[in-house]
Amino acid sequence: MQFEELAALVQSRRSIRRYADREVPDELLQRALDLAVWAPNGGNRQSWAFYVVKDRQLIGKLADAVKAKTELMAGWPEAARFGESVRRWLRTSDFFRNAPVCIAVATGCYESVADQVLAARGAADPQAVQIGEARRVGASRLQSAAAAITTLLLSLHAQGLGACWMAGPQQAKQEIERLLEIPPELDFVALLPVGYPAEEPQPGPRRPRDEVVRFLR
Ligand SMILES: Cc1cc2nc3c(=O)[nH]c(=O)nc-3n(C[C@H](O)[C@H](O)[C@H](O)COP(=O)(O)O)c2cc1C
Repeated sequence: MQFEELAALVQSRRSIRRYADREVPDELLQRALDLAVWAPNGGNRQSWAFYVVKDRQLIGKLADAVKAKTELMAGWPEAARFGESVRRWLRTSDFFRNAPVCIAVATGCYESVADQVLAARGAADPQAVQIGEARRVGASRLQSAAAAITTLLLSLHAQGLGACWMAGPQQAKQEIERLLEIPPELDFVALLPVGYPAEEPQPGPRRPRDEVVRFLR
């Protein structure tokens, strides 16, 4: 593959939030998921799980659960000062209701040897606590899930499908885990509505390289 082809794939992917009323063949989803699991991941434990939901009624229930939590939070007096942003959130947090497919991503526990040593060392050692906190910020299991999701999004896009990475639905984590029968050892972390795109969003601006990259020579 030429670099230009990869660049075209990466740069033409957009978050798609409107979908054609068209069936998405299982084979396309399977092919994309087959590639997603080639993502780099902590210790190659592959402690992720993907729940492909094509049942429209079930998707509706997921959307209801997310919407109910948005309404709850938007109703708190503390939300009032966020004005139009909260009103927009109320209108859009359940946009995936109309997607023909939703893929829920869950991540299992990955304890590296460092995590095990830190756990054994315990909270009495302030250095161990500090190291543990630093490691939690960039938890390997989340980084692994993110790598798989990125690969999945590109693999769907390469086949003409649109999708949107959604962390928002985590607000209804408990309800979603119950609806999808996700076992207690897994944590739901993201929802990806998928379908044939019914919109062509313009790309949002990207910060210039010099602003975000530092070479230390
Ligand atoms: C970790 C993460 C969480 C996101 N959560 C949401 C979400 O809850 N709802 C949503 O509409 N978009 C969500 N997005 C999509 C971003 O808004 C989108 O990727 C960003 O605006 C850049 O647009 P692009 O994907 O079209 O390039 C999320 C993206 C990432 C990476």
